[in-house]
Amino acid sequence: MIGSANGRRIGITGLGVHVPDQVFTNDDLTRFVDTSDEWIVERTGIRERRIAADDEALTDIALPAAQAALAEAGVEAADIDLLICATVTPDMMFPTSSALLADTLGMPQAAAYDLLAGCTGFVYAIAQAYGMLASGLSKRALVVGGDVLSKILDWEDRSTLVLFGDGAGAVVMEPVQRGGFLGFELGADGGGGDHLRLPGSGSRRFDDPGGLVKMNGREVFKFATRVMVSSAEAILDQCDKAIADVDVYVPHQANKRIIDYASRKLGVDPERTVVNVDRYGNTSSGSIPLALADARTDGRLRDGSLVLMTGMGAGLTWGSALLEWTDATAAAGR
Ligand code: ACO
Repeated sequence: MIGSANGRRIGITGLGVHVPDQVFTNDDLTRFVDTSDEWIVERTGIRERRIAADDEALTDIALPAAQAALAEAGVEAADIDLLICATVTPDMMFPTSSALLADTLGMPQAAAYDLLAGCTGFVYAIAQAYGMLASGLSKRALVVGGDVLSKILDWEDRSTLVLFGDGAGAVVMEPVQRGGFLGFELGADGGGGDHLRLPGSGSRRFDDPGGLVKMNGREVFKFATRVMVSSAEAILDQCDKAIADVDVYVPHQANKRIIDYASRKLGVDPERTVVNVDRYGNTSSGSIPLALADARTDGRLRDGSLVLMTGMGAGLTWGSALLEWTDATAAAGR
């Protein structure tokens, strides 16, 4: 699916993120598997990640992110009429984490549902919210992206354990007076789905009651390097933009080598590429909002910046969004 914005201007007016307090360095992981800081840094660029406490689930880390996004946008929870939560690690399959969050936050008017698209979940969710807002069906949306992958990892499998971390982000989306989303490109290839899967997690659990993440890292690497480039090129072309127009490139934070490859192929210099995989590992649906927050903190994300986001992950899925960033409340005319 590909399309450029042709209706109302819809933008992000609030952004919030949250990660668990507990830091696990690469050395900490050597207590669980046969690995080393040197191997992990060289192959992935990851140095540490946040790991949720035993009694912390997705909604516990998503709630502070959602509250921060609402506060920044300067809107009341009750004025949100759509909440989409992108995650592969909901508190449970139902009630959905989005319904639980809407209740805790106080959003009686909100339609709320969870969205499953692997690490691409956040990009899929903002595209859906865009569609609902642009059509006028929704007036103001909260999109949450977050995962607590530590709960579904095999802590004895070094090929997956070292890659992931926990974290969440949230954005308020609504009509804006300038800037906003320019377009989206989304795709899926279930033919490659077997390369990254969670057996035993649904109604096919009779096949394999394992219940922990399984990954063919080399195949996912090949897929990732291909779609990170093709998806970004497709959306730029669709929106009549060139890579030189992009001020801030926000790739999914899976592996520094994948990010470096995509930046090089696309021709984005390191100053424009956001990298925080070294501090958080791969936080799945939390990855892109966490990177947006870092880009804002370090001053790269400014009013008028053209932002290119590309995610990829389980499904296999991928997705890109092009956005002209605007200063939050000024853009919404408040
Ligand atoms: N520590 C030490 N050695 C290790 C580790 C580890 N943690 N993991 C694997 N090895 C070993 C392997 O056993 C292998 O040893 P061998 O040569 O004796 O057989 C050797 O290191 C090389 O293994 P490779 O798998 O070939 O290593 P590669 O360079 O491909 O890197 C990696 C592996 C980092 C997993 C890479 O393939 C990758 O990043 N793939 C993409 C993964 C990804 O992004 N997944 C998330 C997708 S998003 C989502 O939806 C969740």
